[in-house]
Amino acid sequence: MDRITVIGAGNVGATCANVIAHKDLAREVVLVDIQEGMAEGKALDIWQTSQINHFNTRVTGVTNNYLRTKGSGVIVVTSGMPRKPGMSRDDLIKTNAQIVKDVVEKSIRYSPDAILIIVSNPLDVMTYVAYKAANKHHSKVFGMAGILDIGRYTAFIAEALNVSPKDIHGLLMGGHGDSMVPLRRYTSVQGIPISELLNKEEIDNIIERTKKGGGELVSLMGTSAWYAPGSAAAMMVEAIVDNQRRIFPVSAYLTGQYGLSDVYLGVPVKLGKHGIEEILELSLTEPEKKLVVKSAKHVKETLSVLDKMKIF
Ligand code: LAC
Repeated sequence: MDRITVIGAGNVGATCANVIAHKDLAREVVLVDIQEGMAEGKALDIWQTSQINHFNTRVTGVTNNYLRTKGSGVIVVTSGMPRKPGMSRDDLIKTNAQIVKDVVEKSIRYSPDAILIIVSNPLDVMTYVAYKAANKHHSKVFGMAGILDIGRYTAFIAEALNVSPKDIHGLLMGGHGDSMVPLRRYTSVQGIPISELLNKEEIDNIIERTKKGGGELVSLMGTSAWYAPGSAAAMMVEAIVDNQRRIFPVSAYLTGQYGLSDVYLGVPVKLGKHGIEEILELSLTEPEKKLVVKSAKHVKETLSVLDKMKIF
């Protein structure tokens, strides 16, 4: 791919650009920020690791200059305020909706064919904002959350079992908030169901910690996480650039799947060069279905705050 744009040169955006460069996913990664010098500086710093880390991708930074993002194949949106201790992701909606709308409108003008990956919080609602602002088909506008949440889930499982995280697979659905739904039935270690390796209480505890995983980091650092969120977004970019057709949970626009519509929610999809190529509809058990519907209800409630803002 010729060009990938990452909007927001905060910790998440810079990490994402760094991982994209390490994986050599494009000729150029353009990092954009509103704060004078920030994107330029971080991009220059990353670019100066190219010989050390052995990659070709040129990393450049610009302040608000969207012309320099022209012709991007993928745009990753990380703009907005991060959480502070005590805040939920939903508390960010008023500030971040306007920011996300603005950066999507500006960037899409120069890259009308781009696929958009949204990372800003509250994730599922900000992805909806981007969808409205971009005025593109929903298979090209989606959000990053499930890969991050699975990253946390599998890290906790690896710790509990004292095994490599590489062989652990998990699946998770629902919104990117405390109502997310890690699915133990779809969790395994090299094909071995997790229920054969950990008891119910151990799995319950891991699921609870995963659901609050973002908050745990906010309490520790006073701001939200970046290594895992930035890397997870880069993994989605990779699936698109290399047309991998990997199965990931992403925040996708639902049109009747799982009995839900007109909402963005974490569901398993097939990700390739066209964006979301298919939404996988699993046959969930009644209790699983209930949790997913409850999570969707929570996202819809947050969406109603967006409606009241009347920015569209
Ligand atoms: C988190 C933020 C990025 O989960 O939503 O860490």
